[in-house]
Amino acid sequence: MRNENPFTPTFGRMPAVLAGRQELISELETALKSHGSDPNLCSLFTGARGVGKTVLLSYLASRAESFGWISANVTARPGMLEDIIERATEAADAFVDRPADRRLTSISVSKLFGMAWEYRDPASGNWRTRMNKLLDVLAEHQIGLLITVDEVDPGLDELVDFAATFQHFVRESRDVALCMAGLPSRVSALLSDKSASFLRRAAQHQLGRIADHDVRDAFRETLEEAGRRVEDEALDIAVAAADGFAYMVQLVGFRSWAAMGEAEVMTSEHARRGAELARQDFINGVVKKTCQELSDGDMAFLEAMLADEGRPSSVADVAARMGKNTNYARVYRTRLLEQGVIDAPRRGYVTFEMPLLRAYLSEEL
Ligand SMILES: Nc1ncnc2c1ncn2[C@@H]1O[C@H](COP(=O)(O)OP(=O)(O)O)[C@@H](O)[C@H]1O
Ligand SMILES: [Mg+2]
Repeated sequence: MRNENPFTPTFGRMPAVLAGRQELISELETALKSHGSDPNLCSLFTGARGVGKTVLLSYLASRAESFGWISANVTARPGMLEDIIERATEAADAFVDRPADRRLTSISVSKLFGMAWEYRDPASGNWRTRMNKLLDVLAEHQIGLLITVDEVDPGLDELVDFAATFQHFVRESRDVALCMAGLPSRVSALLSDKSASFLRRAAQHQLGRIADHDVRDAFRETLEEAGRRVEDEALDIAVAAADGFAYMVQLVGFRSWAAMGEAEVMTSEHARRGAELARQDFINGVVKKTCQELSDGDMAFLEAMLADEGRPSSVADVAARMGKNTNYARVYRTRLLEQGVIDAPRRGYVTFEMPLLRAYLSEEL
């Protein structure tokens, strides 16, 4: 029996089985297949920490290859422009090295390699010039370039420059695609920057909960692929504890697997124990960090929701408890909705969206 824990409660780690997101993925795949002007070829993914943004970018980048793209995957930080050139060159080299791909046997390896110094050398022109040369070579071989930018940071000038230049690639009808991901507040701050106005036309995808039946399937498959089984009741417990949140799926799985020891079948006892430990991990790894990033007004709004003990809170009640008018409370309602922290089940009402946030706040306050 294999013993390695198959769950991946590490940020950025591709899970053994990807839960949910099928619709979104197939929408993006359609765009990548088209190589045309599908709006999804410039996409922005937002969502709370741990919702699965980085994993989705990696997944799309790996899928893109089979549709004739190479991808340059970078994080928004100083040096990202150089990194895009380095990663694109590296991906192009890896692409031509792969003899299995028929479409590419015609590519003269020396040609791509031979050109490499030119885009790598800053003396051969500014970033846009060097990228144009690189894109010209790729275009000759009908290869598109997908750029993924993770952890969008509105304070990074290079990112704003990048957006402005990328717009020219699009206007010149080059075979380029862009997928960016970040926390909702950072993405909306970037979009409000004048020079990034081009990005406001990007397709925006807010990542949220994964449906329970998808979590259930992924959880079971992960265990079965690792040679173990799971009782139905244990699945119920694990799915309820994961609460549709990607990172929590992995934490519950990881901890329940550990609780199994050498057992071949996961029982409700294992799952209960795993869920309990995962709860603390999640509060430390996600809930506390999210609260630190919220403003005092955001926190006051959340605190005012606690009195409803998990039932939907009316925004008017929340405002009254805050000692403010409803318009004031609505500002925070919008901000928190954007952050993926609360949800609006019906007009005028809000509920907690992030798992364990309510439990954490009621314990802390
Ligand atoms: N669709 C998914 N199904 C199952 N687990 C996932 C999925 N997406 C992400 N994960 C897991 O969730 C955790 C957080 O993913 P990550 O992409 O780093 O989130 P984010 O970038 O939004 O903070 C990781 O442990 C990862 O393995
Ligand atoms: Mg991430």
